[in-house]
Order: sequence, then structure tokens, then C-alpha cells
Amino acid sequence: MSASDATLLKVEGLTKDFGGLRAVDHCSFEVPRGSIFGLIGPNGSGKTTVFNLVTGFLEPTEGRVFFNGHDITGLRPYQIARYGIARTFQLVRTFNRMTVMENLLLGVPHQPGENLLWGVLRTPHVRRQERQAIERARELLAIVGLEHAANEYCGNLSYAEQKMVELTRALMSDPQLVMLDEPTSGINPTLVNRILDYIRHLRGKQGKTFLVVEHDMRVIMNLCDRIAVLDYGQKIAEGTPAEICANAAVIDAYLGTCAP
Ligand SMILES: Nc1ncnc2c1ncn2[C@@H]1O[C@H](COP(=O)(O)OP(=O)(O)O)[C@@H](O)[C@H]1O
Ligand SMILES: [Mg+2]
Repeated sequence: MSASDATLLKVEGLTKDFGGLRAVDHCSFEVPRGSIFGLIGPNGSGKTTVFNLVTGFLEPTEGRVFFNGHDITGLRPYQIARYGIARTFQLVRTFNRMTVMENLLLGVPHQPGENLLWGVLRTPHVRRQERQAIERARELLAIVGLEHAANEYCGNLSYAEQKMVELTRALMSDPQLVMLDEPTSGINPTLVNRILDYIRHLRGKQGKTFLVVEHDMRVIMNLCDRIAVLDYGQKIAEGTPAEICANAAVIDAYLGTCAP
């Protein structure tokens, strides 16, 4: 396998200025296909900004983003989604007055229903696509143990369950890369394990690649194959969890809070 085949996402010299503040500073890393790659760093170190740059919610000041060898720098979020990148947000963004199933169906790209004429005619083709999307949603809900909640309003679910719905919605488009911004923040330890199991399952069984931002060092050390550490927008270290744990600069930035 050549280097480019092994790499799914490549970020090169990525830089973002907000006025006089450099939030991301010449950051480069490569996410291997089929891996779980962690992005960590203290609050305000630029993690969410990197996510927004990769997914097209922000335009970089400098630098490039490559996905599957394609230069996707500066494309719009919907265009990047079509390449096969899905994301969740640091704060849950589910629609509380819609059911879980309705939230999930929003995650399906190119819905024929988006075209008014096809939607009105409800051809067999349209109905078949709808059925397939519902089936996929049910399968994913079963994996997270939320199949009973399909017809519940999202607003009636716990915060952890809403996060699970958001993660599941990101998977509805069958993306190659799933980007999760703090998937376990604000969630109790039992449910954290359920989310981690879900991520591992999707990597193992469906070959998905993950880029995960997390604040909780224990979570990241248990979950990731490789980790990059940001501090003031710069990458100060990259390596396996063991290497990161032993890295003096990381321990400095985190004031020594490395989990066993
Ligand atoms: N839209 C924005 N406008 C101005 N400053 C921003 C914006 N988004 C983020 N920042 C600043 O950029 C820095 C990095 O923020 P962020 O990427 O959210 O960090 P993290 O996710 O690591 O906590 C912070 O200093 C933050 O205040
Ligand atoms: Mg953030």
C-alpha cells in the first residue's frame, strides 16, 4: 500500500487567524485509514477550529486539507460531506421537537424528498429509498440500544442519549471519516463506556476511520491508536498513547494529568 492509500485525511500547515489571534498555527497531521486518531489539548488550544477547518465551516488562512488524495480545502460543508466526512458538534445539535427517527433521516444525503416533484409523486424509487434509510436507522439504533426510542421526541431523551442520536445521525450517510467533538463530555462513566464501545464497533465491523477531540485523557488513551497534541494552536507532540503519556511537553501543557 502506498503512503497516500494508507492515509485517509491529511492536514498540511493548517493555520487560522481570528483578527490578531492565531487559533491554529501551521498544524500538520495524517489520519491513517481505519484508525481512531485523537486530537487533544487544553481548552482554547484550537481543536474545534481544526474541526471547522477540515469540515468547511471555516476557511483556513493558510494550509491545505486532503481527503482520499483530493484537495478539499475551501470547499463548502455540504460538498465536503459528499466526499464522505461526517461530524458531530461539541454541543449537541439534535432537533428536540422531532422524533429520533426523524432526526436520523435528516442525516441521509440526496434525499429524493428534497426534490419537490419526486416528493409529491412518491414513486416506487422514492419509497424504496425511504425504506432503506429507515432500515439503516433501525440497525444503527439497535447497536446503541436505542431501538425502543425511535418514535420518542429527542427532547425527551437524556443528554447522553441525545449525543448518541447525534453520533448515529452522522453515520446515516455511511461516511468514511467520522469526526467527533468531545463525544463523552457531560456524560456519566457507564454511558461513556457505551459510546466508546459503539465507536470501537464501528471501526472494527464497518472499517470506519475516526478523528476524535476529547478533553478526558483516560478516554483518549483507551480509545485512540494515535494522538496529536495541540497547545496554543501548534502541534507540540504526536504519537501512540504510550508515547504521549511519556512526553514531557505534553505533561507540561496538561500539568501532569496523564492517566495510566
Ligand atoms: N469564531 C471565532 N472567532 C474568534 N475567535 C475564535 C473563534 N472560534 C474560536 N476562537 C478562539 O480560537 C481559540 C481556539 O478555540 P477552539 O478551537 O474552540 O479551542 P478548543 O476547541 O481547543 O477548546 C480560542 O482562543 C478561541 O477563543
Ligand atoms: Mg472545542
